[in-house]
Amino acid sequence: MKTVLRAIVVLLLAAALTLAVIYYTGPGKTQAGSERLTIHFTCDASGRLEPCGCFTGQHGGLTRLKTWLGERKDPGPVLKLDAGGAIAGVADHDIIQYRYMTRAYATMGFAALNMGGREAMIPATHLTALAKSSPVPLLSASLVDAESRKGVLDPYRVVDIHGTRVGILGVVSPKSVPTPGEGMAVLGLNEAVDRHLPELAAKTDLVILLAFADENEMRRLAKDYYEFALIIGGDVSGPTQEILRENESMILFTTNQARTVGTLVATLSGGKKKRLTDPTYDIQLLWDTIPQHEDLLGMARDYRAEIRKTPLAIDDPNAKDPNAIPGVSMEASYVGSAACKSCHAGAHEVWEKSGHAHAFETLVKTGSDADPHCISCHTVGFGKPSGYRRPMGSASLVDVGCESCHGPASEHIARYVDGKPSSFKFRPLGPGDCKSCHYGEFSRPFEWDKFWPGIEHGK
Ligand code: HEC
Ligand code: HEC
Ligand code: HEC
Ligand code: HEC
Repeated sequence: MKTVLRAIVVLLLAAALTLAVIYYTGPGKTQAGSERLTIHFTCDASGRLEPCGCFTGQHGGLTRLKTWLGERKDPGPVLKLDAGGAIAGVADHDIIQYRYMTRAYATMGFAALNMGGREAMIPATHLTALAKSSPVPLLSASLVDAESRKGVLDPYRVVDIHGTRVGILGVVSPKSVPTPGEGMAVLGLNEAVDRHLPELAAKTDLVILLAFADENEMRRLAKDYYEFALIIGGDVSGPTQEILRENESMILFTTNQARTVGTLVATLSGGKKKRLTDPTYDIQLLWDTIPQHEDLLGMARDYRAEIRKTPLAIDDPNAKDPNAIPGVSMEASYVGSAACKSCHAGAHEVWEKSGHAHAFETLVKTGSDADPHCISCHTVGFGKPSGYRRPMGSASLVDVGCESCHGPASEHIARYVDGKPSSFKFRPLGPGDCKSCHYGEFSRPFEWDKFWPGIEHGK
């Protein structure tokens, strides 16, 4: 009987001691020396500093990400990483916007931005300039000078997490880069890793790979190298719902134009070489109910102000239509919706009452009327030789006009107004033409039967 009592007392004491240790070390630490590390990651932000606002109920945007991150109570140290694709495109206005994106990521405390497929398509000189001005390190072990084969950017960075040295290496698959930026080449994934991993592994306790590559390529990298505790990507069609495992690595990825953020919480354990154990993983949709962060909304306003006063390549009235075939005569030019009124009074009346006829005013209201990312769908023929041009283009070509759908009408007018003999005929239109603007985050889900009655005209 006594021995049983004694055993119970010993057990109770042991339990109390355990609780005391947990209490003493805090919830972020499970035992002395090993900590719960939180890793938040994004990929494919595609220039979405803020959502465009084309319909209510839009998710995502860095504006929401910042609010969401700010409200988290992560117990231990936190590491924030982007796997690439933060830039929207390769035009000069995309590059200007990307500078604001890097600042936004910096205010959120991101440790590194990897270069994705689009970043790899901007000219080498622009990329190095961006890296110099970026408050967050831009990483790529893959992008090299086309001639010298020397790296264009830092291949990796090392961060100290409470004494643990974490190496972050960035790569992009050549398959994700249709045409490398001027002066640049993209190394094969293994060549990029081989160049830097031995050195990085030697001076760190844990290595994380940021890989803008598809799932198979990420799995292959995990098979080829045992050094990566974690691989984050990627060039994928949707986020992972669970932790994937291959060889010694965990693999996680997301995409979705800044609508989602992935979070891995794991214990930094092991001796000299650390591992990430007891992981939990969650993929979060940045709901429209999350308020947009004031600081980043301010940054978006600054971007719009800068883009308004900056001359851009797309403003050049003599720019050649990139789709024009040399030697083939110029297509018809845009004349504006007012020119149709006299003969198509009915259609014009329907149009005038529709939202299409106020689409530019919508941009003016939000200060986006000089942003090429917006004007393309809210004007007539933006970027085409006779189409709308910034900064304040022809007033007759603002809004979604008749020619936004039917195409340039100068030939048609010439035929019916000037009596010029012409075989020109507009091509028939259908739902596919609407979807050139009504798609993705730019529209409520498009259904012809719901949308066409609102603007129905013609026969
Ligand atoms: C790919 C084409 C496209 C681009 C690019 C685009 N929009 Fe739109 N926008 C639309 C369409 C289509 C609608 C109508 C959506 C619907 O009715 O569901 C719309 C609607 C809107 C509306 C709502 C109008 C209303 O009264 O309800 C706002 C505001 C808006 N856009 C702002 C912007 C801004 C700002 C940008 C640039 C950041 C932008 N748009 C870029 C296609 C586009
Ligand atoms: C001087 C009169 C006149 C003007 C101005 C005019 N049209 Fe027409 N349009 C016609 C006639 C006539 C037809 C042929 C009608 C028919 O066959 O029923 C036509 C037909 C069309 C068609 C049917 C397809 C085709 O090629 O025949 C479309 C679409 C059209 N017009 C669009 C426009 C647009 C857009 C504008 C303004 C940029 C415009 N029209 C200006 C007279 C005009
Ligand atoms: C050039 C881009 C573009 C194309 C092509 C386009 N839309 Fe739109 N649409 C817009 C924009 C932008 C808006 C939002 C206008 C605003 O309120 O600022 C819009 C709004 C609408 C709306 C809501 C506003 C209203 O008047 O009720 C309907 C319905 C609509 N579009 C139907 C269509 C249909 C049907 C087609 C194809 C036949 C089409 N759209 C093609 C850009 C486009
Ligand atoms: C949002 C896209 C859109 C806009 C804006 C638009 N149309 Fe249309 N229009 C269509 C579609 C779609 C049809 C029906 C399919 C077809 O016949 O090609 C059509 C049909 C027509 C027809 C009848 C064609 C035929 O073969 O009988 C005429 C004429 C016409 N539109 C003129 C105009 C004029 C004029 C304007 C401007 C005041 C205008 N449209 C604005 C999409 C548009």
